[in-house]
Amino acid sequence: MLAFAYLLLGASLAAAKTCTVPISPPTVDSTANVLAAARSCSENATIVFSPNATYLLEHPVQLNLTNVIVELNGNLSLPENITLVATNTSNNQNDTSWIVFNGANITFQGSNSSSGGWINGNGQGWWDINLQKGRPHLIGWFLKAIFSGGVVRDLKIQKPIAWVFFMIANNTLAENNWIDARTSTPGTFPFNTDGFLVQGQNFTIHNNVVYNGDDCVTVREGTSGVTVTHNYCANGHGLSIGSLGSNPSYLSNASDCYFSDNTMVNSLYGARFKSFLGGRGSATNVTYRNMFLSNVTFPIYLTQAYYDQGSGLNGTASSNSVVTISDFTYENFFGDINNLHPGDLSCVSDPCWYFEPNVTTLESVIIDLAAGSFKNVSFSNIRVSPQPPYSLYDQRVKCDPSTAIGQNLGIVCQDGPLVTTTL
Ligand SMILES: *[C@@H]1O[C@H](CO)[C@@H](O)[C@H](O)[C@H]1NC(C)=O
Ligand SMILES: *[C@@H]1O[C@H](CO)[C@@H](O)[C@H](O)[C@H]1NC(C)=O
Ligand SMILES: *[C@@H]1O[C@H](CO)[C@@H](O)[C@H](O)[C@H]1NC(C)=O
Ligand SMILES: *[C@@H]1O[C@H](CO)[C@@H](O)[C@H](O)[C@H]1NC(C)=O
Ligand SMILES: *[C@@H]1O[C@H](CO)[C@@H](O)[C@H](O)[C@H]1NC(C)=O
Ligand SMILES: *[C@@H]1O[C@H](CO)[C@@H](O)[C@H](O)[C@H]1NC(C)=O
Ligand SMILES: *[C@@H]1O[C@H](CO)[C@@H](O)[C@H](O)[C@H]1NC(C)=O
Ligand SMILES: *[C@@H]1O[C@H](CO)[C@@H](O)[C@H](O)[C@H]1NC(C)=O
Ligand SMILES: *[C@@H]1O[C@H](CO)[C@@H](O)[C@H](O)[C@H]1NC(C)=O
Ligand SMILES: *[C@@H]1O[C@H](CO)[C@@H](O)[C@H](O)[C@H]1NC(C)=O
Ligand SMILES: *[C@@H]1O[C@H](CO)[C@@H](O)[C@H](O)[C@H]1NC(C)=O
Ligand SMILES: *[C@@H]1O[C@H](CO)[C@@H](O)[C@H](O)[C@H]1NC(C)=O
Repeated sequence: MLAFAYLLLGASLAAAKTCTVPISPPTVDSTANVLAAARSCSENATIVFSPNATYLLEHPVQLNLTNVIVELNGNLSLPENITLVATNTSNNQNDTSWIVFNGANITFQGSNSSSGGWINGNGQGWWDINLQKGRPHLIGWFLKAIFSGGVVRDLKIQKPIAWVFFMIANNTLAENNWIDARTSTPGTFPFNTDGFLVQGQNFTIHNNVVYNGDDCVTVREGTSGVTVTHNYCANGHGLSIGSLGSNPSYLSNASDCYFSDNTMVNSLYGARFKSFLGGRGSATNVTYRNMFLSNVTFPIYLTQAYYDQGSGLNGTASSNSVVTISDFTYENFFGDINNLHPGDLSCVSDPCWYFEPNVTTLESVIIDLAAGSFKNVSFSNIRVSPQPPYSLYDQRVKCDPSTAIGQNLGIVCQDGPLVTTTL
């Protein structure tokens, strides 16, 4: 009994190595101190950022860790100096993550205290001048498959310059994080501030709050096993699969994604599938259930003819190879459509990147898929009401009937009112 107790004590001592990052004044670069802590506590350890301190990271950091808990009890900040950040973003090419986690079984956790666990990206200056060159991703999460994966929780992200969580990993849980990319300067827009970009196997994105200007969650190609539940997403571009098929030279796949009990407020899109014209691959077994939408321009949207802003529409889904779709379920959608002030300030080209020909703005479902490219796509209990003077009974569908011959979608495929069918 005693020996067993010693053994336990020994094990917990071995795992208890802790490195506390020394506190510097908030205007003094802490990069070297952070890297030093990551080197001495790279395995079976805890790295602690002290409460009531703000650590400035003037340079990107790569932390190579295995079985490590990183406790952000204090705060991190990026420089306000845009030139400095752009200079330290490799080749000004958008391809740097400022805080990179490499390795396996890493927990990066913030704080339950309102004064700790913040990461301030100082993005406002970038948004004010709409600078889109040399923007880093905030957090790169590159975890190998070994061990039980990683966790990011209780982090509070303020004004990220652009992309927030960029995750190429397996077995990762992201919960209770707060992302706030709201601009304080009227007329400016926080472009590309995606919340969670995920690529890999087995992600759970749970109970996060995201105010941003791009996808709240986006499931990238090569991804399977994604559970997205109880998140609150405001202002952004939806809970998305895609964009798949950007490169026709290989198959671009995504599967087994489950979205439930999420809330979308003032968003451009709700549930979105997007793949590029000419892409190849498949998306299968995707469910969106119990979605509440408030003031959303395009509540449900599927397109195989996605294109980038500014590049213009290039053909239709029917005239190119496409990423195929199967076993998509949309069930229990409530709320209202933003038909009074459709769109958002991300529209800077003509035609707008989200322009849809022939829409009335009363559509709760838009299906832009090629004939023969989809099967087992179903919609049930879709009750997203246009705003007054319209009512629930005015919600419409945009769908070319010639693409859905012989299929039962649970709604009639037509450019017209939403009419349900028995599945
Ligand atoms: C982590 O690994 C990368 C690539 O091997 C290396 O460049 C970097 O210096 C390492 N980071 C630390 C803190 O040792
Ligand atoms: C870390 O812990 C693992 C599992 O307990 C053990 O196999 C490994 O040797 C430890 N590494 C170090 C550097 O202590
Ligand atoms: C942090 O600051 C607050 C308010 O100034 C103080 O109440 C608290 O004790 C401090 N915590 C630590 C760990 O220093
Ligand atoms: C993961 O890391 C934590 C914290 O260091 C440790 O307690 C746990 O045992 C590790 N899990 C595995 C499977 O090694
Ligand atoms: C911003 O950073 C650049 C590049 O390091 C430097 O030349 C410039 O003096 C800095 N500006 C301010 C206001 O500190
Ligand atoms: C950075 O990304 C944005 C948006 O994707 C793009 O418009 C811009 O051209 C990119 N800049 C560079 C230098 O790659
Ligand atoms: C995730 O797991 C898959 C399958 O085991 C593996 O091929 C892939 O390399 C892993 N990804 C990472 C980032 O380790
Ligand atoms: C993902 O989860 C599934 C089901 O639990 C499991 O079979 C698979 O091995 C996991 N993938 C990785 C890379 O761990
Ligand atoms: C569909 O995906 C869910 C997870 O999102 C998974 O639990 C289920 O097993 C998958 N179904 C099939 C038939 O693979
Ligand atoms: C709906 O969203 C639009 C665009 O974001 C916004 O202009 C409008 O004020 C919102 N309406 C309400 C009632 O919040
Ligand atoms: C449109 O498609 C053609 C042929 O595939 C391609 O050459 C061209 O670059 C595309 N244009 C745009 C704006 O995407
Ligand atoms: C838009 O409506 C016009 C006129 O009804 C029709 O010719 C055209 O094919 C429609 N375009 C799309 C993309 O639905």
